[in-house]
Amino acid sequence: MAERGFSPPTSEWFHPPPELVERARIADPEATSARAAADRLAFWEERAETLDWYRKWDNVLDDSEAPFYRWFTGAQTNITLNALDRHLHTARRNQVAFIWEGEPGDQQTFSYWQLSREVNRFANVLRGLGLQKGDRVTIYMGRIPEIVIAMLACAKIGAPHSVVYGGFSEQALADRIQDAQSRVLITQDGAWLRGKIVRLKETVDAALQQSPIVETVVVARRTGQDITMQAGRDYWWHELMASPQAGAEAATAVMDAEDPLFILYTSGTTGKPKGVLHTHGGYQVYTSTTLSWVFDLREEDRWWCAADPGWITGHSYIVYAPLILGATSFLYEGAPGYPAPDRYWRMIAEHGISILYTAPTAIRGLMRYGDDWVKRHDLSSLRLLGSVGEPINPEAWKWYHQVVGGGRCPIMDTWWQTETGGFMITPLPTVPLKPGSATRPFPGIEVDVVDDEGNSCPAGVDGKLVIQSPWPSMLRTVYGDPQRYIDQYWSEFAEQGWYLAGDSARKDEDGYIWVIGRIDDVLLVSGYRLGTAEIESGLVSHAAVAEAAVIGVPDELRGNRVQAYCILVAGAEGDEALVAELKLHVRREVGPIAVPAAIEFVETLPKTRSGKIMRRVLKAEAQGLPLGDLSTLED
Ligand code: WTA
Repeated sequence: MAERGFSPPTSEWFHPPPELVERARIADPEATSARAAADRLAFWEERAETLDWYRKWDNVLDDSEAPFYRWFTGAQTNITLNALDRHLHTARRNQVAFIWEGEPGDQQTFSYWQLSREVNRFANVLRGLGLQKGDRVTIYMGRIPEIVIAMLACAKIGAPHSVVYGGFSEQALADRIQDAQSRVLITQDGAWLRGKIVRLKETVDAALQQSPIVETVVVARRTGQDITMQAGRDYWWHELMASPQAGAEAATAVMDAEDPLFILYTSGTTGKPKGVLHTHGGYQVYTSTTLSWVFDLREEDRWWCAADPGWITGHSYIVYAPLILGATSFLYEGAPGYPAPDRYWRMIAEHGISILYTAPTAIRGLMRYGDDWVKRHDLSSLRLLGSVGEPINPEAWKWYHQVVGGGRCPIMDTWWQTETGGFMITPLPTVPLKPGSATRPFPGIEVDVVDDEGNSCPAGVDGKLVIQSPWPSMLRTVYGDPQRYIDQYWSEFAEQGWYLAGDSARKDEDGYIWVIGRIDDVLLVSGYRLGTAEIESGLVSHAAVAEAAVIGVPDELRGNRVQAYCILVAGAEGDEALVAELKLHVRREVGPIAVPAAIEFVETLPKTRSGKIMRRVLKAEAQGLPLGDLSTLED
């Protein structure tokens, strides 16, 4: 069941340093949680009051069509009203919103004022392309300032964005364009990664052969190599931005609280990715509250969320929440260890980063280079650290805490999902920590670990993680497929009306929650969610493969690595050359992160009588573990 080796609860406690406790916004998280639990709607209403609205809500929560919950109904807002517009009338307008560093070392800084002008100009460009409220825009870019500007401009005009991570292949991009039915796509010529150019525009050109729906492509120039620009379809970002229509003033579209803000695709149990839909109103309330309390973020901070804007972590905690809070964020384009293993540490020292939020896989990768690279730099500006994406193994936790954080920075291990929009189970800076546990639910959030019947599991017993009441930034539906929304999240505990997270977990005797891993056919590889079905259908789409099964096996660095088993069609030769060809094929079909570390050719696959592949059996075999209950095995 577990994707990684489970680390049993440890009795080791880490207590926060007194100076953090003193300055913490929420001095007593338990009291805050108790207050929120006593009247959840009043609690969220109070949080919503901290933001600007064109019109306030009639209802905090409308659950008349549950599980299609609606928050702050009747309210009108726009997330950019809070992320940008409201700062322009205050001293904050001249504060730094973003400091960006490119992989080659070039830098750019944007004050709130400057960022807002860029967003306005691009909003005018988008309007000039005929985009209207509700039209979807696909964004396929690397970590450059233009991706942030593009997302905010879409939000500003009310066009939901669908950001596709730049590591995805042409096929994955084409599928997502198709599902969202985007007529406009924003990309860049290439992105710098480890000193090389990732040719994003080439991938776009290939994807668009399958997606004739796209009428216009806007291309930001980053790497400068020659690319093909198709006349009448492709336009340079800088040329559009220089046109007289791209003025620095633009009206912010007045949105209903429940109008869509973005679609973000994530892996599910079937091959088809799910378009998770988030809206303007509840999402802005929840993401800003969680960031403010969990990282105690202030104007004087330098916040670095080292995720990619193409994932939910980047949407919520690079783009939207930090801007709503008026913080200064750092954004870095490239790879962690490039050109030298101390790239991260040098940037922390140079920019005076005070909070670093990254993933266990990145921490383990940096840890491998050794302590000296870290110790070469003065990291005394750091006061808090964060982790997200998968359970953090205690060894990595301790290294992060001791070597990076100098033993003084607590680690906020935040459990959440694309679907939840924001942190769900997480410490606050004043909470005593146990390495490997995300501790307790955020105030206002009700979670439990339950058995198949929905009974609460006693301490120490594995069960399913459920969320027992709605929260403002919950996904609203699966885009274009409301039935899938119900089936996937709300059918298992339909009677109780609970949300099924798809993770297994365990509580300990202190009520701390230990997330173990996915219970569905989703793998966490380097913190990325990959559906086994997506990789399998990628393999089967190759002419030599009749059938395929994919499993994750524990990997020290990546959490899991992909292992594939293929049955070949008659006459196909299972040799080294085919292994190499299939890897390349998966890279093209699904993306580089999905490429199997190993591919084995087999005669049969273990299946249930109903024909389902028993991945659990393959997994046990791959790890030399007992095969477990084989009663449902067909053969
Ligand atoms: C896993 C990323 C343990 C979990 C924000 C979840 C974690 C999936 C943690 C969501 C954590 C995320 N501890 N597991 N701190 N954070 N996960 O949608 O399995 O990319 O269901 O969202 O990552 O991945 P997603």
